[in-house]
Amino acid sequence: MSEANSMNLISALSQEELQAIDAEIAHVPYRDAVAIDALKIVQAHRGWVSDESLSAIAAHLHMSADELDGIATFYNLIYRRPVGDKVILLCNSISCWIKGCENLQQRITEELGVELGETTSDNRYTLLPVTCLGACDKAPVMMVGDELHEDLCEESIIRILGGSTTP
Ligand code: FES
Repeated sequence: MSEANSMNLISALSQEELQAIDAEIAHVPYRDAVAIDALKIVQAHRGWVSDESLSAIAAHLHMSADELDGIATFYNLIYRRPVGDKVILLCNSISCWIKGCENLQQRITEELGVELGETTSDNRYTLLPVTCLGACDKAPVMMVGDELHEDLCEESIIRILGGSTTP
């Protein structure tokens, strides 16, 4: 990649984003060591990481976009497509599965009118599956935005998501 192209890509990031990424870089010996942090920073500002943002981050970290995309894809809390205002992360790992997360997923689908991977028509929620949230003793669990909800049942799903629109 030419230096001009690299500069154009880097300018796709805001000054605030670049400063936050540079603050992380200051703590590590290699720029690419902050790959996940950089992705999280941009996602915190934009809600998701577009191809353009990913290329800009990669250029700033002196990595290839393919290499960074591999990391972003592996780390399932980096969103590579637009998401709703809040992401619902429904755990479908073993403890939550034993405790009936499949039925809860069905209840959420009925409540919000979306399947896994979809966003509600009012853009309020995106429903995604997630691997173990580390609260297995409180299974079944889900995150709604930054909030963890434990010991879920159909009634609590309705209470938590109540007032949401169904198409
Ligand atoms: S299996 Fe769901 S929180 Fe661990």
